[in-house]
Amino acid sequence: PIDYPISLDFDAENGTFEPCPQVTPRHLSDLKEMFSDQSTVAQILRENDPLIYEIRYYPFTTTKSDMALAVTRIFPGTIGNEFYMTKGHKHQREDQPEVYYCVRGEGFLLLDTLEGEFRAIPWRAGVITHIPPMWAHRVVNTGNDLLVFIGVFHLSAGHDYDIVARKGFAYRVLSRNGKPELIKQD
Ligand code: PA5
Ligand code: NI
Repeated sequence: PIDYPISLDFDAENGTFEPCPQVTPRHLSDLKEMFSDQSTVAQILRENDPLIYEIRYYPFTTTKSDMALAVTRIFPGTIGNEFYMTKGHKHQREDQPEVYYCVRGEGFLLLDTLEGEFRAIPWRAGVITHIPPMWAHRVVNTGNDLLVFIGVFHLSAGHDYDIVARKGFAYRVLSRNGKPELIKQD
């Protein structure tokens, strides 16, 4: 039996917590089709497979209704001129929102219905954003430093990555002279 309540020790500088039952690394090879510059992707992958971000996950399992916590650390960098970002997904369940809290760093939270509606929320430490159900979400790190954010969602929400891979977000965040620019996809 689990001894409730569960508390975690969170290091906001690092974007890590203890105890942490699950760490998922996402390397370039895990999201290679997400980046626009496919020849640069192939070129990098011939040499190495850089770590783009990491997800630390904690399921708060109870007997009734379960929340989950995920802390994501996105490293700074670009693939070609496109900033490091998460894969992005839509929740499988159509009634499932999420709350995101940016703890460290700067960038954009991209929200897209994948049916014509798009928002880019400028993101920095201290911003909390509610992601409504049915909106695909992706975070882009445009800074020179780690970007850390917390996501809280229902365990049953489910992650649909295929729909994002198929349709893509309406805009990409590209670096021009080191500054982020939103570029519409055709
Ligand atoms: O639940 C969420 O939305 C987040 O915890 C993400 O899963 C996390 O940020 C990693 O992004 P993705 O799942 O798109 O790889
Ligand atoms: Ni989500």
